[in-house]
Amino acid sequence: MPTKGSAKSPYRGLVISLSLLLVAFVLWFSTQLAAAAQWPQGTPLDLSSPFTSKKNIIMMVTDGTGPASINMARSYRQYRDNLNYDDLLELDKHFIGSSRTRSNSSLITDSAAGATVFSCGLKTYNGAIAVDPLKNPRGTILEALKLKGYKTGLVVTTSITDATPAAFNSHVDYRFMQSLIANQQLGFNTTLGSMTDLMIGGGRCFYLPGNSVGGCRDDNRNLIEEAQKLGFNVATSKKEFDSWQLGQNVSLPMLSLLAYYNIPYDLDRDEEKYPSLEEETITALNVLSNSTRDSNQGFFLMVEGSRIDHAGHQNDPAAQVREVLAYDKAFKAVIDFADSSDVPTYIVSTSDHETGGLDVGRQITKSYPDYLWKPDVLDNATHSGEYLTQRVHEFAASTKDAGQLTNFIEKQIFEFGLGIYDYTFKDVQKAIEYKESLELGNYLNEMVSHRAQVGWSTHGHTAVDVNIYAHSNTEEGQQLLHKYLLGNHENVEIGQFWQTLCDVNLDDITHKLRGTVHNVDVEAAEEHSESLYGHEMGSVEW
Ligand SMILES: *[C@@H]1O[C@H](CO)[C@@H](O)[C@H](O)[C@H]1NC(C)=O
Ligand SMILES: *[C@@H]1O[C@H](CO)[C@@H](O)[C@H](O)[C@H]1NC(C)=O
Ligand SMILES: *[C@@H]1O[C@H](CO)[C@@H](O)[C@H](O)[C@H]1NC(C)=O
Ligand SMILES: *[C@@H]1O[C@H](CO)[C@@H](O)[C@H](O)[C@H]1NC(C)=O
Ligand SMILES: *[C@@H]1O[C@H](CO)[C@@H](O)[C@H](O)[C@H]1NC(C)=O
Ligand SMILES: [Zn+2]
Repeated sequence: MPTKGSAKSPYRGLVISLSLLLVAFVLWFSTQLAAAAQWPQGTPLDLSSPFTSKKNIIMMVTDGTGPASINMARSYRQYRDNLNYDDLLELDKHFIGSSRTRSNSSLITDSAAGATVFSCGLKTYNGAIAVDPLKNPRGTILEALKLKGYKTGLVVTTSITDATPAAFNSHVDYRFMQSLIANQQLGFNTTLGSMTDLMIGGGRCFYLPGNSVGGCRDDNRNLIEEAQKLGFNVATSKKEFDSWQLGQNVSLPMLSLLAYYNIPYDLDRDEEKYPSLEEETITALNVLSNSTRDSNQGFFLMVEGSRIDHAGHQNDPAAQVREVLAYDKAFKAVIDFADSSDVPTYIVSTSDHETGGLDVGRQITKSYPDYLWKPDVLDNATHSGEYLTQRVHEFAASTKDAGQLTNFIEKQIFEFGLGIYDYTFKDVQKAIEYKESLELGNYLNEMVSHRAQVGWSTHGHTAVDVNIYAHSNTEEGQQLLHKYLLGNHENVEIGQFWQTLCDVNLDDITHKLRGTVHNVDVEAAEEHSESLYGHEMGSVEW
């Protein structure tokens, strides 16, 4: 009778070994199956590689753009181009989630705190440019990547010294310290030195001496000349910008400041004088990708549709839909670039906050409203309220003749400018009353909004959650974007995602920034800044 069990069986060892082998094989086989399911092309499962290998990072910001702005631009384009109601913006095709935007000091953030979450992965107080709530300069993703060997760039349509771009390459206590921001953007007054290889946008005024024509610095330095001495290729006109041949006839470092303050709204833009955001972006992509072609590091680029926010502040729906569509074209250029690149490329597009409290739908009668949307009103406008206001101010300054002014307002402003023919006597009276005031812009924009049945709740920002869009040209990249950004998130998670993805520790950069000058006489700086608004800039800070 065999003994109980087979303790003494000579085959026992062999049986155990074979079972272990079988278990190991089954485990190995199932991981292979899982891997095959997740990575169809059979890329080896090396999870460390996306974090350490060469890649391009493209952070895109629609300033002041809530879900309703996307919605309005999409519907406007369908009307304008006679498209189906299910035709989508390029952005729509890459929607992955939404972001909660509160800052350290308020449920409603400003653009400075809003950009610092993307650059530093940190919530700070409204007005802060890459400094923490205690006003200590904090390292940014742009600086960390530059020190790792990436090439870096910023592309905007407002001043390059404005809050969003500034939060990536400068550190100041308050956003209105724009002369100090400009210094730091070229590497002065910062312990890190020059961190940015490419800047394209407006804001030449803060690079030019305060005592020169078009200059508005608080001192008499000429940073355009200083940049040239530092070796920057500089373009200050469309002609010079065009000689760069969309980036194929220029090398880094490069600086292109194409307007004293803002590049005009896309609706007002003279193509002979200013490039589109898409042209700016393609230029940056060409130069940055070309100059990192033989490097083992890629590039970091931030692109901002800066003035969607301005149209929100001014409650100008006709200007805003064109700004969103101009951004969507730039976004598509970035997606197409990624899809044609063999370098893993990561794109995230989101907003810092909503502006204007925009509503696509408005009650304009006492009785229960008809559900109407009048995109033809937006389509009829040939210029923004901002542009038309300046024309009235100029005309009023040039004539004392009341009849001429009335005729100018009726024909040039209402009919040609706004495409509005059913204006009233009161409309004309009001425009004449505001002939020297910025109130005129608000009045003109309200004429358009009311007729289009578009509503606004504020000239400031709101706390509405904003959308997140993302794309990568690799399956692995798509998986990472989904893992970290799918669904509803705090805005800081976007900045933190870049740090994780790029395997950088911003504390190291923060440490290196000790000793950086981040403050000037606050009252003097604020006063200087306020003295600039009102004439050419035409409005308060946003
Ligand atoms: C603001 O920052 C301070 C200092 O870091 C922190 O103690 C506080 O909790 C933060 N508040 C909010 C609302 O983020
Ligand atoms: C910035 O540096 C310059 C010298 O490069 C110096 O003259 C200036 O005072 C500094 N600015 C501040 C705010 O410290
Ligand atoms: C290329 O740039 C150089 C100056 O750097 C300029 O002289 C030349 O005209 C440019 N080429 C074109 C085709 O614009
Ligand atoms: C890359 O840069 C070189 C030198 O600046 C230039 O000759 C070439 O045209 C560029 N290529 C592209 C595709 O931009
Ligand atoms: C748009 O402009 C045309 C003239 O070009 C005018 O006939 C039409 O009434 C305008 N539409 C609206 C909604 O004001
Ligand atoms: Zn903003």
